[in-house]
Amino acid sequence: MTRTTWPTTGLSYGGDYNPDQWSPETWEEDIRLMTEARVNIVTLGVFSWGNYEPEEGRFEFEWLDTVFDLLHAAGIAVDLATPTAAPPIWLHQKHPEILPVTREGMRYWQGGRLGWCASTPIWREQALRIVEVLARRYAAHPALKMWHVSNELGGGNRLCYCDESAAHFRRWLTEKYGTVDALNQAWGTAFWGHRYVDFAQVLPPRDSETVPNPALKLDFERFASAALLEHFEAEAAVLRSITPDLPITTNFMVSSNPSVVDYARWAPRMDVLANDHYTIGRDDAREQELAMSADRMRGMRPDAPWLLMEHSTSAVNWQQRNRAKLPGELVRNSLGHVARGSDGALFFQWRASTAGAEQFHSAMVPHAGTRSKIWADVCELGRHLDALGDVAGTLVEPASVAILMDDESHWAWKAGPKPVNDEPVWKAARDVHRALFDANVLADVVPPWADLSRYRVVVVPGLFLASDDTARSVRAFAEGGGHVLVTFLSGIVDATNRVRAGGYPGAFRHLLGILSEEFFPLLDDGGLALDNGWRAGRWSELVHADEAEIVARYADGDLARSPAVTRRALEGGGSAWYVSTELDRVALADLLSGLLADAGVSPSAEVPSGVEAVRRVGDDRSFLFLLNHGPARVHVPGSGRELLTGRDVEDGLDLDAGGYAVLRER
Ligand code: GAL
Repeated sequence: MTRTTWPTTGLSYGGDYNPDQWSPETWEEDIRLMTEARVNIVTLGVFSWGNYEPEEGRFEFEWLDTVFDLLHAAGIAVDLATPTAAPPIWLHQKHPEILPVTREGMRYWQGGRLGWCASTPIWREQALRIVEVLARRYAAHPALKMWHVSNELGGGNRLCYCDESAAHFRRWLTEKYGTVDALNQAWGTAFWGHRYVDFAQVLPPRDSETVPNPALKLDFERFASAALLEHFEAEAAVLRSITPDLPITTNFMVSSNPSVVDYARWAPRMDVLANDHYTIGRDDAREQELAMSADRMRGMRPDAPWLLMEHSTSAVNWQQRNRAKLPGELVRNSLGHVARGSDGALFFQWRASTAGAEQFHSAMVPHAGTRSKIWADVCELGRHLDALGDVAGTLVEPASVAILMDDESHWAWKAGPKPVNDEPVWKAARDVHRALFDANVLADVVPPWADLSRYRVVVVPGLFLASDDTARSVRAFAEGGGHVLVTFLSGIVDATNRVRAGGYPGAFRHLLGILSEEFFPLLDDGGLALDNGWRAGRWSELVHADEAEIVARYADGDLARSPAVTRRALEGGGSAWYVSTELDRVALADLLSGLLADAGVSPSAEVPSGVEAVRRVGDDRSFLFLLNHGPARVHVPGSGRELLTGRDVEDGLDLDAGGYAVLRER
C-alpha cells in the first residue's frame, strides 16, 4: 500500500542540497536565495554519511540540525536522503568485503560512491543502523516531508560477482526454480554439457574465455535488480517503522534507453515515483528523448503524478563534450516534464561544488553566482511553477497509444551473440515514440503487463523477449478491437530467453498471420526500397504473409518481391501490423498516420509543427502545455488564461522560437 501524501503544497521546486560542502555563512545566503527563487523543497544529505559519522559511533549531527531549522523557518520542506549512496571511509577500511567485485574478480577500492554489494550481510547491517539513527533523530522535525532512500540504486553497484552475491543468487534461483532439473531445463544447460546436479554448483556469469549461457546471464540481471530492490525494502521498512506517515521514494534513472534495474517492477513498491533525467548533448531530438522518459515514468503508474527528482540547469560533466543549455532551455525542459505528469522539477544540485568529482557540473547557483543566465532562469522557473500551483494533483489526459517496453527484454537481447551485435534493438521504441511525438500524439510507454484495455493502439517495438502472458495480452487486446503494430525482433524468445521455434516472431506470429523464416540483416547502411515508395534499411526478413495482406514488399536487395510490411484485419474491427524492416522516418510517419486514423486517434491539439502540446486535466480543470521546439515564432490556437503571464487569451497566442505557455482552458 503506497502513501501518496505529497511533500509540498502546489508543485515541488528545488534540488539536492549539500550544505556540508559549505560554511554556515553560505547556508544563510542559500536560504535567502532559495526564498528568492521560490524553492519549496530540497533533498538533503544524499552523500553525507561520512560527515554525520566521521568515525564509527561518533556522530556530528549539529550542523544538520541547524540546516533543518533554517529550512523550516523559510518554509522549505526536506526530502531527507538515507546516506547509503556513499559509505564512509572508515567503513570501507574496516569491511572492504562490502565493496563490489567485478566479473574478472577484482574488488573495487574505497574512494567512489555506491561502493557496496547489496548481498553482503555486514553492509545491510551497517546501512540499516545509520538509517535508524537518522530517522530517529529527525522523525519529529516538522520540515521532514519525505524520505529519499539512498541514491540511484544500481548506478555503479548493480552487478557484483563476489561470493556473497553468488550465494544470494543461488538462494534466489532455488526459490525461483525449486529443483535443479527445472533450472537445467529453463537454462538449456544441455548446450555445452553445462548441466548442474546441485544448486551449489551455480556461479554468477564470471569471466571465462567465451560468452556465458544467455539464460544464466538474464537471470543474473534479474537477480541483481531484485537484490537492490530488497535493499530498498529493508531501508524502507526501518523508515516506515519510525515515521509511518511519511512517503518514501528513491530516484530512478529512466531515460529512453533501457534501465540498469527493472524500475517498472520496482514501481509498485514506491510511495512516490521519482526520476532523474539528463539530456544528452549530442542527441538530435533532445526534447523527444525527454518526453519519452517522462512517458515511461507515467506509464508505470498512469493514475498518479510522479516527481522529477533531478535534472540539470545546464551542462553536466559526464559526457564527452558537455553542452550548456541556452537561455530558457532549463525552463522549457522542466515544463516538458511537468506537462507529462511530474508534479515538480528538482535539480542536481542547488549550489555548484568547487571541489570534488562534480566541480564542473551545473547547478541552480552556478560558480558565477546570481549574475548569470542560469540564475535568471532558475528564478523564472520558480515564478512559473508557483503560477502553476493548480496543476498539482491533475493527471495527464489519458493516452490512446501504448508503447511496450521492458528492461528484461533488453537484458535478454544483450545476453549473448545475436544476428546483429552492433545495434540496440530498443531503438525501435524510440523511433516509434519520435514519430508519435512529431505528430503530437500522446503515448504511454508501459511495461508489457500493463492493462492494455485503456488504449486503442498498442505498439510492440523490438520487444525481443515476450512472455506467454504478454503474447496473450496483446492478442486479447487486438481481438477486442484494438490495433497492434509489431516491429522486427519482437517476441523472439520466451521468458527463459529460449527461442520460440516454429517461425518468427513466435509470440505474435498467429496474431499477425505471418511466418518469418529467416533474418537477413543488411551489412551496410545502403538502405532498401519498398514497392510502395517507402524507404527502409538495416534489417530485413524472409516473411510469408499467410493470413495477412501485404502492405509493402521489398523492391530491391536479397529479398526483392517478398513481403516487408503486412496487415491482418481482425474480426472485431482491430488490426495487427508487422514491420519486418527498419522504416525511415518518413515511411514510419506515413504508416502510423494511417494506423492512427483507422484507430480514431487524433493529436492532443492542432498546433503548428515543432510545437509540443500536452494536456493535464483534473475534475474541474484543464491545462494545455505548449512548448515551441521549432526555430520560428508561431501562432497557436486556443483560449483561456495563460498562466505564466497571467493574460487572458481569446484568439490563440504567439510563441517565440523556444517559447512556452500554459493555457488554463475554459
Ligand atoms: C546523478 C546523481 C547525482 C549527480 C548527477 C550528475 O546521476 O544522482 O548525484 O551525480 O547524476 O549529473
